[in-house]
Amino acid sequence: MNIIPAADYQDMSHKAAHLMIEKIRSNPDMTLGLATGSTPKGVYDELIKDHMENGTSYKRITTVNLDEYIGLPPFDPNSYRYFMNSGLFNHLDIQQVNTHLPKGDADDINQECQRYEQLIKDLVDIDLQLLGIGQNGHIGFNEPGTPFTSRTHVVKLEESTRKANARFFESMDKVPTHAITMGIASILDSREILLLASGSAKAEAITQLVHGEANEQFPASALKVHSNVTIIADEAALSLV
Ligand code: PGA
Repeated sequence: MNIIPAADYQDMSHKAAHLMIEKIRSNPDMTLGLATGSTPKGVYDELIKDHMENGTSYKRITTVNLDEYIGLPPFDPNSYRYFMNSGLFNHLDIQQVNTHLPKGDADDINQECQRYEQLIKDLVDIDLQLLGIGQNGHIGFNEPGTPFTSRTHVVKLEESTRKANARFFESMDKVPTHAITMGIASILDSREILLLASGSAKAEAITQLVHGEANEQFPASALKVHSNVTIIADEAALSLV
């Protein structure tokens, strides 16, 4: 695992965005795996700024997101589809039809998981997958105990994950209890993985990722078997490494 240290959140976002922009410019047909949450927000702001100032084009780019809450329609401001549209896609020249997230309001959720996994296969793998990490080591919404062989599936969110995400909702009881997530094996099929972490709340998770053994109780440790992983983390997130 290659570790790139950053001074702070802004520096992490800048370094990650520039690494991505370089790849998008050299491979304008690439498939990007994207993530939601506070961590990648700054990266997306930088991609938008670069698109406006330097004209980096996303016309032929395809994106596939990691996960979506079950029960939230795409127009719900807390859905990940809404987050991606308002925080990134609407500001680029990307074609909306080439942006993919699981449908959290699908009538048949199991069928939706199969459709999404097949979609990833049809794209012949993700060129670069962007990841955050949960305090409990989750990647996507793959919570501790998820088999490393898992494909796109339904998960029951841990209480700690619901609490961590409650800040975006009116009250705790509005936070969805379940989500659809790409599985760990689906993530590991990506050609390259870029994991970001910022802040002291992520310091223990990053230490465990760097120094711990591969263990299904700590989902991010699955990345240890992948041959092309880069971590960009700020000083606070690297403070225990
Ligand atoms: P965050 O979430 O970026 O909002 O900290 C990361 C994650 O849970 O994967």
